[in-house]
Amino acid sequence: MLRVLVCVSGGGTNLQAIIDGIRQGNITNAEIVRVISNNHGAYALERAKAAGIDALCVSPKDFPDREAFHERLIEAVEEKKPDLIVLAGFLVVLPEKMFARYANRIINIHPSLIPSFCGTGFYGLKVHEKALERGVKVTGATVHFVDEGTDTGPIFLQKAVMVEQDDTPETLQKRVMEQAEWEILPRAIHMIANGDVTIENGRVRLLN
Ligand code: GAR
Repeated sequence: MLRVLVCVSGGGTNLQAIIDGIRQGNITNAEIVRVISNNHGAYALERAKAAGIDALCVSPKDFPDREAFHERLIEAVEEKKPDLIVLAGFLVVLPEKMFARYANRIINIHPSLIPSFCGTGFYGLKVHEKALERGVKVTGATVHFVDEGTDTGPIFLQKAVMVEQDDTPETLQKRVMEQAEWEILPRAIHMIANGDVTIENGRVRLLN
């Protein structure tokens, strides 16, 4: 069983897709061992509790400085000995230490086709605002492994989504979630849990 720890900041629809994927058998050989949010008000925490999953908030607001926050965050992760950390809309830059400790064992979902509309400052609705501003006709979502950079790690899965003429950031966000994110994030976890992926020379190679 792959021990999966999910980090979230907001609504948690991607977390829900993972919970449902495990329940419905689309993700096999994996269990969620803990959900961590940096935000006390995150609805994702309610989703986790409703599914009977261990859920806790580690908020920077509860600590005197960044170092103390990072220490507790690392501890909250390590307590559960995860095999895989999934960033499902987690808007916190991870503590430096974690990159080496969990090399090739952290994945992130990003709501565009990387390398477009990614990097510092590109998160949530902002990504879709920028895509519409640029007038792209196709966008999508990317699951990638996480390295020290922002959205720079090896690309794992991508799915394209058409932009429509009258899209607003909100309508585009919804379509990207429904048609891409909720599909490729569970699939990525299933593939890792079943040994279907390896990283060679900084690039993801799909097996089987
Ligand atoms: C998702 O669209 C995810 O791709 C995005 O935040 C949203 C979280 O929604 N992540 C980023 O922008 C990371 N740079 P959710 O809480 O409903 O899953």
